[in-house]
Formats: sequence, C-alpha cells, structure tokens
Amino acid sequence: MVDFVGQKLEVYDEVVGFVFPVYFQDIPRIVKKFINKIEFKNNPYIFAIATCNGGPGFTLFNLDKILKSKEQKLSSGFILTMPGNSVILVDLTNNPQIQKEKLEKSKIKIEKISKIIKKQAEEEIEGKNTIKDKLVGFTTQFIATKIYRTHKKFLVNEKCNKCGTCQKICPENNIKVDQNVIWGSNCDLCLACFHWCPQKGIEIGNSTENRIRYHHPDIVINDMVLR
Ligand SMILES: Cc1cc2nc3c(=O)[nH]c(=O)nc-3n(C[C@H](O)[C@H](O)[C@H](O)COP(=O)(O)O)c2cc1C
Repeated sequence: MVDFVGQKLEVYDEVVGFVFPVYFQDIPRIVKKFINKIEFKNNPYIFAIATCNGGPGFTLFNLDKILKSKEQKLSSGFILTMPGNSVILVDLTNNPQIQKEKLEKSKIKIEKISKIIKKQAEEEIEGKNTIKDKLVGFTTQFIATKIYRTHKKFLVNEKCNKCGTCQKICPENNIKVDQNVIWGSNCDLCLACFHWCPQKGIEIGNSTENRIRYHHPDIVINDMVLR
C-alpha cells in the first residue's frame, strides 16, 4: 500500500521492487527523484532489477547507498542485459539478431530472478562498484549532456505528422506538439520519443538517420501512455 503525504510517498508493503534501466552506469534522474520521495514504513524486503546494455557500473550499489540513508538496504539486486537503446553512445549491438539473442537470454535470467524474489532471499548485488566505472559513467554523461548536448539535438523529419505520440509518452512532459514539435529543457534522455514515434519522424541531430528504432517487443504504446 502506498500513501501520498504532501511530497512524500509512504510505502507500507513488505516487499518492494524497483525495475529501471541503467543510464550512464547509474540510476536515471527521474528514478532517483522517485526513490528519494519514499518513506518505508515496514522495513520491506527490497529488490531491484536494472536493465542495461552490458555496462551496469555502480547503479545498484548507488541504490543500496540511497536505501541505507533511509535505514533500509537492497536485499537483492540483479542486472538484466537487454538490447541497447542508447543511440547517443556508440552502440555496436544495435542489430536485430543480437537484440533477439539478448531477449532470449533475458527470459532465462528473469526465471532465476523470480525464484529468488519469491523466496525473499538475500543475494549479492550485481554490477561493479569501482572508481573506473564511476569515471566512465560521469564522462559519458558529461559528453552526452554538456558537450554533445543531446537534449538540444531533437528534431523532426518530413515523416512527422504531428500525431502527438511523443508528447503523450514523455515521462517528464517535456514535449509540446501543435503546429511544431517543441522539446523543453527537462529531458532525461530516455529517448522514448525517438524510439516510439510511429512514423520514425524524430532524429537526434544528423546521427540517427539510419539507426534502428528499438523498444521491447512485449510493450505496446498504450502501456507507455498509461504508465
Ligand atoms: C541515456 C541512456 C544512457 C544509457 N547508459 C547505459 C550505460 O551506462 N550502460 C549500459 O549498459 N546501458 C546503458 N543504456 C542502455 C539501456 O540501459 C538499455 O538499453 C535498456 O536498459 C534497455 O531496456 P528495455 O529493453 O527495458 O528498454 C543507456 C540508455 C540510455 C537511453
């Protein structure tokens, strides 16, 4: 059970799970904001699954640190390797065959994870908590946000028909569609607008013309709108 009390979220459940993607070897900003609002009322068993493209870095260790500041801990933390969707970073696995193989492997791992969670077992946290991983995370984030300035590079091509899908699915409500499509300044770089556009009408600068648009095959657009 969850109660909204002002800006806080009071959580009374005995099992709590966080499932989110890795961004720049860390927890995405929007997920951090959400977790910071939570007050755990019943010392739950807390598990997390971080999806990534093979470079999980210190993500789950950072989550454990945030939870410890709330007098909780991450009881089990899993890394699930999925197809890459970060077109801004060099992504050599952006290939349908490799995507298919990763999705097949992920199903096997999900089976294992669900058994552990059902038992509420304590497990070692997966990932790497080294200085090198932190440096890689900070550097790639710095390049994407401060040097390449990805959030300023979104544009529409001639295929855009102003259907408004990007506006509906943006988790930060950062996109407005009327005569034009306008991105505001509150972008987490999730790239949902790019990957989910039904017309393939969104580009990131001139680097994405030939890039594959990817989203998990079991997710449909309504799941994204309703979230
Ligand atoms: C902005 C951004 C940054 C990312 N940074 C990383 C990263 O540091 N390490 C990594 O392995 N994957 C990274 N990814 C890839 C995603 O974590 C991965 O593709 C995603 O978890 C796929 O999950 P899904 O299939 O559930 O959409 C990044 C993706 C984006 C959009």
